[in-house]
Amino acid sequence: MIILAIESSCDDTSVAIMKNGEILSNVTATQLDHVMLGGVVPEVASRAHQQKIVYVVDKALSEAGVKKEALNAIGFTQGPGLMGSLIVGVSFAKSLALSLNIPIIAVHHLHAHILSHFIEAPRPGFPFLCLTVSGGHTMIVKVDSPSAMTVLGHTIDDAAGEAFDKCGKLLGLPYPAGPVIDKIAKDGKAIYNFTEPRIEGLNFSFSGLKTSFLYFLKKELKSNPNFIKENLNNLAASIQERIVSILLHKIEKAVHQYDIKEIAIAGGVSANSALRSQFKQKAAQEGWGLYIPKLEYCTDNAAMIAQAAYFKYKDGEFAQQNIAPSPRLAF
Ligand code: KG4
Ligand code: ZN
Repeated sequence: MIILAIESSCDDTSVAIMKNGEILSNVTATQLDHVMLGGVVPEVASRAHQQKIVYVVDKALSEAGVKKEALNAIGFTQGPGLMGSLIVGVSFAKSLALSLNIPIIAVHHLHAHILSHFIEAPRPGFPFLCLTVSGGHTMIVKVDSPSAMTVLGHTIDDAAGEAFDKCGKLLGLPYPAGPVIDKIAKDGKAIYNFTEPRIEGLNFSFSGLKTSFLYFLKKELKSNPNFIKENLNNLAASIQERIVSILLHKIEKAVHQYDIKEIAIAGGVSANSALRSQFKQKAAQEGWGLYIPKLEYCTDNAAMIAQAAYFKYKDGEFAQQNIAPSPRLAF
Protein backbone atom coordinates (compact mmCIF):
# COMPACT_ATOMS: atom_id res chain seq x y z
CA MET A 1 0.00 0.00 0.00
CA ILE A 2 1.79 3.12 -1.23
CA ILE A 3 0.72 6.71 -0.49
CA LEU A 4 2.14 9.85 -2.06
CA ALA A 5 1.54 12.89 0.18
CA ILE A 6 1.78 16.60 -0.60
CA GLU A 7 2.27 19.48 1.88
CA SER A 8 1.93 23.03 0.52
CA SER A 9 0.18 25.02 3.26
CA CYS A 10 2.81 27.75 3.68
CA ASP A 11 6.23 28.24 2.13
CA ASP A 12 7.61 24.68 1.90
CA THR A 13 6.79 22.41 -1.02
CA SER A 14 7.10 18.90 0.36
CA VAL A 15 6.30 15.45 -1.02
CA ALA A 16 6.69 12.09 0.73
CA ILE A 17 6.19 8.47 -0.21
CA MET A 18 4.99 5.99 2.41
CA LYS A 19 4.82 2.23 1.87
CA ASN A 20 2.86 0.13 4.37
CA GLY A 21 3.33 2.78 7.05
CA GLU A 22 7.03 3.33 6.41
CA ILE A 23 8.49 6.52 4.94
CA LEU A 24 10.57 5.85 1.82
CA SER A 25 11.25 9.47 0.92
CA ASN A 26 10.48 12.97 2.22
CA VAL A 27 11.62 15.75 -0.11
CA THR A 28 11.18 19.39 0.92
CA ALA A 29 11.98 22.45 -1.18
CA THR A 30 12.20 25.46 1.10
CA GLN A 31 11.42 28.81 -0.51
CA LEU A 32 14.24 31.23 0.04
CA ASP A 33 12.56 34.33 -1.41
CA HIS A 34 10.93 34.98 1.98
CA VAL A 35 14.30 35.46 3.68
CA MET A 36 14.89 38.46 1.43
CA LEU A 37 11.31 39.70 1.78
CA GLY A 38 11.35 39.48 5.61
CA GLY A 39 8.38 37.12 5.83
CA VAL A 40 6.12 34.87 3.79
CA VAL A 41 4.46 36.78 0.95
CA PRO A 42 1.42 34.66 -0.05
CA GLU A 43 1.54 35.52 -3.75
CA VAL A 44 5.23 34.71 -3.98
CA ALA A 45 4.71 31.46 -2.04
CA SER A 46 1.95 30.15 -4.31
CA ARG A 47 3.95 30.87 -7.46
CA ALA A 48 6.98 29.12 -6.01
CA HIS A 49 4.84 26.05 -5.19
CA GLN A 50 3.72 25.98 -8.83
CA GLN A 51 7.29 26.17 -10.06
CA LYS A 52 8.55 23.43 -7.73
CA ILE A 53 5.81 20.88 -7.30
CA VAL A 54 6.48 18.75 -10.40
CA TYR A 55 10.18 18.54 -9.59
CA VAL A 56 9.56 17.68 -5.91
CA VAL A 57 7.03 14.97 -6.80
CA ASP A 58 9.46 13.43 -9.31
CA LYS A 59 12.31 13.55 -6.81
CA ALA A 60 10.24 11.95 -4.02
CA LEU A 61 9.19 9.12 -6.38
CA SER A 62 12.69 8.49 -7.66
CA GLU A 63 14.28 8.61 -4.17
CA ALA A 64 11.71 6.06 -3.02
CA GLY A 65 12.26 3.93 -6.12
CA VAL A 66 8.52 3.98 -6.79
CA LYS A 67 6.73 4.46 -10.13
CA LYS A 68 3.61 6.60 -10.00
CA GLU A 69 1.55 3.73 -11.45
CA ALA A 70 2.28 1.82 -8.19
CA LEU A 71 0.58 4.47 -5.99
CA ASN A 72 -2.61 3.49 -4.14
CA ALA A 73 -3.71 6.89 -2.82
CA ILE A 74 -2.73 10.58 -2.72
CA GLY A 75 -2.79 12.49 0.58
CA PHE A 76 -2.70 16.27 0.71
CA THR A 77 -3.00 19.17 3.15
CA GLN A 78 -6.49 20.64 2.84
CA GLY A 79 -5.84 23.40 5.41
CA PRO A 80 -5.34 25.50 7.42
CA GLY A 81 -2.82 27.60 5.52
CA LEU A 82 -2.45 30.16 2.78
CA MET A 83 -5.16 29.87 0.12
CA GLY A 84 -2.88 30.28 -2.91
CA SER A 85 -0.37 27.76 -1.53
CA LEU A 86 -3.04 25.21 -0.62
CA ILE A 87 -4.66 25.49 -4.08
CA VAL A 88 -1.45 24.30 -5.75
CA GLY A 89 -1.12 21.16 -3.59
CA VAL A 90 -4.82 20.32 -3.59
CA SER A 91 -5.21 20.75 -7.36
CA PHE A 92 -2.08 18.75 -8.06
CA ALA A 93 -3.20 15.94 -5.74
CA LYS A 94 -6.64 15.80 -7.33
CA SER A 95 -5.41 15.74 -10.92
CA LEU A 96 -2.69 13.18 -10.26
CA ALA A 97 -5.23 10.92 -8.50
CA LEU A 98 -7.70 11.38 -11.33
CA SER A 99 -5.13 10.44 -13.94
CA LEU A 100 -4.14 7.32 -11.97
CA ASN A 101 -7.72 6.51 -10.97
CA ILE A 102 -6.86 6.27 -7.25
CA PRO A 103 -8.50 7.83 -4.17
CA ILE A 104 -7.52 11.08 -2.44
CA ILE A 105 -7.20 11.69 1.30
CA ALA A 106 -7.61 15.18 2.81
CA VAL A 107 -5.42 15.95 5.82
CA HIS A 108 -5.63 18.68 8.47
CA HIS A 109 -2.19 20.30 8.75
CA LEU A 110 -2.25 20.42 12.56
CA HIS A 111 -3.53 16.86 12.96
CA ALA A 112 -0.56 15.88 10.81
CA HIS A 113 1.92 17.78 13.03
CA ILE A 114 0.52 15.80 15.98
CA LEU A 115 0.58 12.49 14.10
CA SER A 116 4.21 13.07 13.07
CA HIS A 117 4.98 11.24 16.34
CA PHE A 118 3.90 7.99 14.73
CA ILE A 119 6.34 8.11 11.82
CA GLU A 120 9.13 6.52 13.87
CA ALA A 121 9.64 4.87 17.25
CA PRO A 122 9.50 5.75 20.10
CA ARG A 123 5.80 6.51 19.69
CA PRO A 124 3.66 8.00 22.50
CA GLY A 125 0.95 5.91 24.13
CA PHE A 126 -2.68 7.09 24.26
CA PRO A 127 -3.84 9.34 25.77
CA PHE A 128 -1.05 11.88 25.42
CA LEU A 129 -0.76 15.65 25.58
CA CYS A 130 0.65 17.30 22.48
CA LEU A 131 2.10 20.78 22.56
CA THR A 132 1.87 22.04 18.97
CA VAL A 133 4.11 25.03 18.46
CA SER A 134 4.53 26.45 14.97
CA GLY A 135 4.68 29.77 13.17
CA GLY A 136 0.91 29.93 12.97
CA HIS A 137 -0.32 27.90 15.95
CA THR A 138 0.30 27.25 19.62
CA MET A 139 -1.95 24.76 21.33
CA ILE A 140 -2.16 21.93 23.84
CA VAL A 141 -4.15 18.99 22.51
CA LYS A 142 -5.30 15.86 24.33
CA VAL A 143 -4.90 12.97 21.90
CA ASP A 144 -7.01 9.88 22.65
CA SER A 145 -6.53 8.21 19.26
CA PRO A 146 -5.35 9.24 15.77
CA SER A 147 -8.85 10.56 15.10
CA ALA A 148 -9.94 11.76 18.58
CA MET A 149 -8.21 14.98 19.58
CA THR A 150 -9.39 17.74 21.92
CA VAL A 151 -7.89 21.23 22.13
CA LEU A 152 -7.30 22.06 25.81
CA GLY A 153 -5.70 25.48 25.29
CA HIS A 154 -4.51 27.73 22.49
CA THR A 155 -2.94 31.11 21.91
CA ILE A 156 -5.23 34.10 22.14
CA ASP A 157 -2.96 36.24 19.92
CA ASP A 158 0.47 35.44 18.41
CA ALA A 159 1.88 31.93 18.03
CA ALA A 160 5.15 30.91 19.74
CA GLY A 161 6.99 30.79 16.39
CA GLU A 162 5.57 34.18 15.53
CA ALA A 163 6.94 35.52 18.83
CA PHE A 164 10.40 34.21 17.88
CA ASP A 165 10.08 35.68 14.39
CA LYS A 166 8.73 39.08 15.48
CA CYS A 167 11.23 39.55 18.33
CA GLY A 168 13.99 38.48 15.94
CA LYS A 169 12.83 41.07 13.45
CA LEU A 170 13.15 43.73 16.17
CA LEU A 171 16.74 42.55 16.59
CA GLY A 172 17.30 42.90 12.85
CA LEU A 173 17.51 39.14 12.25
CA PRO A 174 16.40 37.56 8.96
CA TYR A 175 13.15 35.61 8.56
CA PRO A 176 12.45 33.06 9.97
CA ALA A 177 14.22 34.32 13.08
CA GLY A 178 13.45 31.29 15.30
CA PRO A 179 16.39 29.16 14.16
CA VAL A 180 18.74 32.19 14.21
CA ILE A 181 17.76 33.10 17.79
CA ASP A 182 18.32 29.47 18.75
CA LYS A 183 21.83 29.56 17.27
CA ILE A 184 23.02 32.91 18.65
CA ALA A 185 21.44 32.34 22.07
CA LYS A 186 23.99 29.56 22.59
CA ASP A 187 26.66 32.25 23.08
CA GLY A 188 24.51 34.35 25.37
CA LYS A 189 22.96 34.38 28.85
CA ALA A 190 19.33 35.11 29.73
CA ILE A 191 20.20 38.20 31.78
CA TYR A 192 17.18 40.30 30.78
CA ASN A 193 13.95 39.43 32.49
CA PHE A 194 10.68 39.82 30.59
CA THR A 195 7.56 39.12 32.63
CA GLU A 196 5.59 35.98 32.01
CA PRO A 197 1.97 36.85 31.11
CA ARG A 198 -0.79 35.63 33.43
CA ILE A 199 -3.31 33.95 31.16
CA GLU A 200 -6.29 31.95 32.41
CA GLY A 201 -6.33 28.17 32.16
CA LEU A 202 -4.28 26.52 29.45
CA ASN A 203 -4.38 29.37 26.95
CA PHE A 204 -1.28 31.28 25.83
CA SER A 205 -0.46 34.86 24.91
CA PHE A 206 2.71 36.11 23.25
CA SER A 207 1.87 39.57 21.92
CA GLY A 208 2.51 41.29 25.27
CA LEU A 209 5.99 39.80 25.37
CA LYS A 210 6.75 41.17 21.91
CA THR A 211 5.49 44.63 22.94
CA SER A 212 7.50 44.74 26.16
CA PHE A 213 10.56 43.59 24.19
CA LEU A 214 9.98 46.45 21.72
CA TYR A 215 9.70 49.09 24.48
CA PHE A 216 12.70 47.69 26.30
CA LEU A 217 14.82 47.90 23.13
CA LYS A 218 13.60 51.43 22.36
CA LYS A 219 14.50 52.60 25.84
CA GLU A 220 17.97 51.05 25.78
CA LEU A 221 18.69 52.26 22.25
CA LYS A 222 18.04 55.85 23.37
CA SER A 223 21.03 55.80 25.70
CA ASN A 224 23.13 53.43 23.58
CA PRO A 225 22.50 53.23 19.81
CA ASN A 226 24.68 50.09 19.68
CA PHE A 227 22.72 48.32 22.42
CA ILE A 228 21.35 45.55 20.17
CA LYS A 229 24.66 44.93 18.43
CA GLU A 230 26.60 44.79 21.71
CA ASN A 231 24.10 42.53 23.47
CA LEU A 232 22.66 40.43 20.66
CA ASN A 233 23.46 37.02 22.14
CA ASN A 234 22.11 37.88 25.59
CA LEU A 235 18.97 39.41 24.10
CA ALA A 236 18.35 36.28 22.02
CA ALA A 237 18.95 34.03 25.04
CA SER A 238 16.59 36.12 27.21
CA ILE A 239 13.69 36.16 24.79
CA GLN A 240 14.13 32.44 24.07
CA GLU A 241 14.23 31.67 27.80
CA ARG A 242 10.91 33.44 28.35
CA ILE A 243 9.11 31.85 25.37
CA VAL A 244 10.27 28.40 26.50
CA SER A 245 9.26 29.01 30.13
CA ILE A 246 5.74 30.08 29.07
CA LEU A 247 5.36 26.81 27.13
CA LEU A 248 6.84 24.66 29.87
CA HIS A 249 4.68 26.13 32.64
CA LYS A 250 1.46 25.57 30.68
CA ILE A 251 2.35 21.97 29.94
CA GLU A 252 3.09 21.39 33.63
CA LYS A 253 -0.33 22.80 34.43
CA ALA A 254 -1.99 20.51 31.87
CA VAL A 255 -0.15 17.46 33.25
CA HIS A 256 -1.51 18.16 36.73
CA GLN A 257 -5.00 18.98 35.52
CA TYR A 258 -5.42 15.88 33.32
CA ASP A 259 -3.05 13.51 35.08
CA ILE A 260 -1.44 12.51 31.78
CA LYS A 261 2.34 12.10 31.72
CA GLU A 262 2.86 11.22 28.07
CA ILE A 263 4.02 14.50 26.51
CA ALA A 264 4.65 15.10 22.82
CA ILE A 265 5.88 18.27 21.13
CA ALA A 266 5.20 19.05 17.49
CA GLY A 267 5.61 21.92 15.03
CA GLY A 268 8.54 24.04 13.86
CA VAL A 269 9.38 25.53 17.27
CA SER A 270 10.01 22.03 18.69
CA ALA A 271 13.29 22.27 16.77
CA ASN A 272 14.43 24.81 19.39
CA SER A 273 17.37 23.45 21.35
CA ALA A 274 16.59 25.28 24.62
CA LEU A 275 13.02 24.02 24.48
CA ARG A 276 14.27 20.49 23.87
CA SER A 277 16.76 20.52 26.72
CA GLN A 278 14.43 22.17 29.26
CA PHE A 279 11.56 19.82 28.45
CA LYS A 280 13.96 16.85 28.68
CA GLN A 281 15.18 18.00 32.07
CA LYS A 282 11.63 18.49 33.37
CA ALA A 283 10.53 15.13 31.96
CA ALA A 284 13.39 13.37 33.76
CA GLN A 285 12.49 15.11 37.04
CA GLU A 286 8.75 14.44 36.79
CA GLY A 287 8.81 11.00 35.18
CA TRP A 288 7.11 12.10 31.96
CA GLY A 289 7.41 10.18 28.72
CA LEU A 290 8.67 12.86 26.33
CA TYR A 291 8.42 12.59 22.54
CA ILE A 292 9.95 15.05 20.09
CA PRO A 293 10.24 14.02 16.44
CA LYS A 294 13.53 14.38 14.61
CA LEU A 295 14.10 17.83 13.08
CA GLU A 296 13.04 16.82 9.58
CA TYR A 297 9.60 15.88 10.91
CA CYS A 298 9.24 18.92 13.23
CA THR A 299 9.07 21.65 10.60
CA ASP A 300 6.54 21.50 7.77
CA ASN A 301 7.00 18.23 5.87
CA ALA A 302 4.99 15.78 3.80
CA ALA A 303 5.99 12.70 5.81
CA MET A 304 3.56 13.79 8.53
CA ILE A 305 0.85 14.27 5.87
CA ALA A 306 1.53 10.73 4.64
CA GLN A 307 1.29 9.41 8.22
CA ALA A 308 -2.06 11.15 8.80
CA ALA A 309 -3.30 9.96 5.39
CA TYR A 310 -2.24 6.39 6.23
CA PHE A 311 -4.45 6.39 9.38
CA LYS A 312 -7.36 7.71 7.30
CA TYR A 313 -6.72 5.14 4.55
CA LYS A 314 -7.02 2.35 7.11
CA ASP A 315 -10.34 3.87 8.26
CA GLY A 316 -11.55 4.14 4.64
CA GLU A 317 -11.85 7.91 4.95
CA PHE A 318 -11.47 9.26 1.42
CA ALA A 319 -12.30 12.68 -0.02
CA GLN A 320 -14.32 13.47 -3.13
CA GLN A 321 -12.91 15.15 -6.23
CA ASN A 322 -14.97 18.30 -5.51
CA ILE A 323 -13.13 18.96 -2.22
CA ALA A 324 -11.73 22.51 -1.90
CA PRO A 325 -8.74 23.87 0.03
CA SER A 326 -9.75 25.45 3.32
CA PRO A 327 -7.43 28.19 4.70
CA ARG A 328 -9.27 28.24 8.05
CA LEU A 329 -10.10 24.56 8.33
CA ALA A 330 -11.58 23.91 11.79
CA PHE A 331 -9.59 21.67 14.12
O1 KG4 B 1 5.72 24.21 11.74
P1 KG4 B 1 6.48 25.20 10.94
O2 KG4 B 1 7.62 24.72 10.08
O3 KG4 B 1 5.54 26.02 10.00
C1 KG4 B 1 4.26 26.43 10.39
O4 KG4 B 1 3.30 25.65 10.18
O5 KG4 B 1 4.18 27.54 10.94
O6 KG4 B 1 7.02 26.31 11.98
C2 KG4 B 1 7.75 27.43 11.55
C3 KG4 B 1 8.10 28.25 12.79
C4 KG4 B 1 8.74 29.60 12.47
O7 KG4 B 1 8.11 30.59 13.25
C5 KG4 B 1 10.21 29.42 12.89
O8 KG4 B 1 10.82 30.60 13.33
C6 KG4 B 1 10.06 28.42 14.03
O9 KG4 B 1 9.05 27.53 13.59
N1 KG4 B 1 11.30 27.69 14.27
C7 KG4 B 1 12.05 27.84 15.39
C8 KG4 B 1 13.18 26.99 15.24
N2 KG4 B 1 13.08 26.36 14.02
C9 KG4 B 1 11.92 26.80 13.45
N3 KG4 B 1 11.85 28.58 16.48
C10 KG4 B 1 12.80 28.51 17.44
N4 KG4 B 1 13.91 27.75 17.37
C11 KG4 B 1 14.14 26.97 16.30
N5 KG4 B 1 15.22 26.21 16.24
ZN1 ZN C 1 3.24 23.55 10.27
